[in-house]
Amino acid sequence: MTDTWLVTGGAGFIGRVVVEQLLAWTEGPQVVVLDAMTYAAHPVALRAVGESYAGLPESSRLTIVEGDVADGVLVSKLMARVRPRVVLNLAAETHVDRSLSNNAPFVRTNVEGTEMLVRASVDCRVERFVQVSTDEVYGDRVGRRAARETDGVEPTNPYAATKACGDALVQAAVRSSGLDAVITRGCNTYGPGQFPEKLLPLAALRWGADQPMWVYGDGLQERVWLHVDDHAAGILAAARVGTEGAVYHFSGGRPRTNQATLESWRRALGLGGRPDDYLRRVADRPGHDRRYALGDQETRRQLGWAPRRSWRSGLRATAKWLASNPQFWASSLEQHGVSAFFAAQYGEPPVVAS
Ligand code: DAU
Repeated sequence: MTDTWLVTGGAGFIGRVVVEQLLAWTEGPQVVVLDAMTYAAHPVALRAVGESYAGLPESSRLTIVEGDVADGVLVSKLMARVRPRVVLNLAAETHVDRSLSNNAPFVRTNVEGTEMLVRASVDCRVERFVQVSTDEVYGDRVGRRAARETDGVEPTNPYAATKACGDALVQAAVRSSGLDAVITRGCNTYGPGQFPEKLLPLAALRWGADQPMWVYGDGLQERVWLHVDDHAAGILAAARVGTEGAVYHFSGGRPRTNQATLESWRRALGLGGRPDDYLRRVADRPGHDRRYALGDQETRRQLGWAPRRSWRSGLRATAKWLASNPQFWASSLEQHGVSAFFAAQYGEPPVVAS
């Protein structure tokens, strides 16, 4: 029987790297991607991944299906047809600021979409389901120890609440429907191909146009950063050797304030100047969590996973990729109402014509 893996959200930032790593396995599985191709997807880049592994577009090992995970009929039909052995759920609405102004697409994809996939996976007797989630489900860790893999969730923003709901649906199916599932929760992820609404690619876009980057509040919120290659490798390790019902954490190096992160990023991009000139303080994100912190000791022990990229080399490699791919998102910024989002969020588009 063919070994088929269904990757939802495979045209997204982390999903694409997961697909690439799956295709890189010799004797690896057939990969079917299901992706709604929203504003943050890059189908052209995903097709290029397929080509680079087979010399042909839509190689025999990669099939791309455009569709919404919350469309139950589509999901059931697709699963009945391709009979995946493994399902990796990376389909998600991910941007906190967007969830604060309209959480409906987050509820649809992150909650209803997860439920549709879970139900179809139970019906199709999928052998392993991986729910890709986030450190944000634990809420603000300021003044508290790092969250352990066994801790309960306490989300504080609408996006995180939808991810926590999706995770709960998966956990319920493990217990009540015998689904063999694991949940992975990662910290802030960066690297090539990230949509420029997130901190690092947005800063690069702004600085590239000689505009200051917006910093929410005092800029002293703490985040931990993980390179996308390390995050994807963790997800695949959890898929292969994780224990049914377990939660796994992927954390990176030490916590850094947003201001310090932007200063390192500026250096990696080879740009100079004083923070007062290249950063602009703006109103804080409502309910902004000051600190996220994930303990990943159990995960490292059980999966044999550890991040391989150092912060400096990861930033340098990302800067190099951006320099060689300056137009990667150009067409998307004008489509899907992306400019309108920036205008509403910051009162100006990301790049102001001078
Ligand atoms: O922690 C994992 C999460 O990381 C993922 O689950 C989310 O899907 C992903 O979007 C990311 O969430 P964040 O809200 O932490 O990422 P973002 O890049 O939007 O912001 C990182 C930090 O930088 C956060 O403290 C807010 C701040 N920030 C962000 C933007 C876009 C600014 O100060 N200015 C900005 O313009």
